[in-house]
Amino acid sequence: MTVLKANDENIKRAAETIRNGGLVAFPTETVYGLGADALNPKSVAMIFQAKERPFFDPLIVHVSNSQMAEKLFREKNELAERLMKRFWPGPLTLVLPKSSRIPEIITSGLNTVALRMPNNETALKLIDYSQSPIAAPSANRFSCLSPTEADHVNRQLGEKIDIILDGGACSIGIESTIVKPQNNKIVVLRPGGIPVNLLEEVAPTELAYGNLKDNKQDPESPGQLPFHYSPTKQLIIEESIKEIKPKTGYLFFQEPKNLKTNSHCRILSPKGDTVEAATNLFSFLHQLDAMDIEKIIAQTIPKEGLGIAIMDRLTKASKKYEIHN
Ligand code: TXA
Ligand code: MG
Repeated sequence: MTVLKANDENIKRAAETIRNGGLVAFPTETVYGLGADALNPKSVAMIFQAKERPFFDPLIVHVSNSQMAEKLFREKNELAERLMKRFWPGPLTLVLPKSSRIPEIITSGLNTVALRMPNNETALKLIDYSQSPIAAPSANRFSCLSPTEADHVNRQLGEKIDIILDGGACSIGIESTIVKPQNNKIVVLRPGGIPVNLLEEVAPTELAYGNLKDNKQDPESPGQLPFHYSPTKQLIIEESIKEIKPKTGYLFFQEPKNLKTNSHCRILSPKGDTVEAATNLFSFLHQLDAMDIEKIIAQTIPKEGLGIAIMDRLTKASKKYEIHN
């Protein structure tokens, strides 16, 4: 594996690796992706192998322009087009009826495909230079913390990837919102970088996530397991944190009022902004997870703006222990 600075020359080299069937981790505005040529089923299979990801969890296909997208889905629909126009490039993934060019392995046998145009220059160039759409899940091991820096990828998956393109920290820091346009409604399958109130400006929304109680798969959003995004340490969510205990890491939303914080504390957004909090979420969790502590206590985030997506990630991160232990 080689970590390369994301300059034009290196992006071209990485594109050649993609064309030759290899794996490249690359930055997007949300999180780092682990990419392969979406039209090459063998390369796509290597993504699942590297992540140890179950084959029932379908992948997002990344495109760099609308013509590329149009070859990958069927049944043009007006709402999908409006959403693409408004939010692409950006953190919105659209689930649409798939064209026959999409290999089965990408969609886990579903007749829909998830498409996204990332808002990141390196990602867009990589897709352009590869001359093919790129399939990419988040570049972490299955169910572990998502990567928002090249080093996070390197630590979890370094051995298994040909090239990691280092484009610095991701600007948004939380995965895309996944939606399915259906009967003039926007069905939200995963909360993410585009808050639901912005989607509402385009069409009425219906929330279809967050109700999975056990390990059961919801056919609408396969891969949305109740546990996910987990640090190796136990994560507990608390409404209000009253004391700082030893051997414990703390993830505060804002500066706590009557507590003296220590080096095991992280503050997601001193000014109480959920966008800033999302940018810091995974990188602070990676930092806390690497400390000599026994557990992490995360404070509840207000469920507004990106707070909804953040709480979704924290809740899933906290479930791992409930289910496995
Ligand atoms: O921001 C993002 O979306 C990042 C960056 C790399 O683009 N990618 C990402 O991929 O979060 P991943 O694999 O970690 O999550 C993708 C999720 C899957 O778990 C699955 O639930 C959903 O997308 N998905 C993919 N194809 C689908 C389909 N046809 N129908 C419903 N859900 C689908
Ligand atoms: Mg993921």
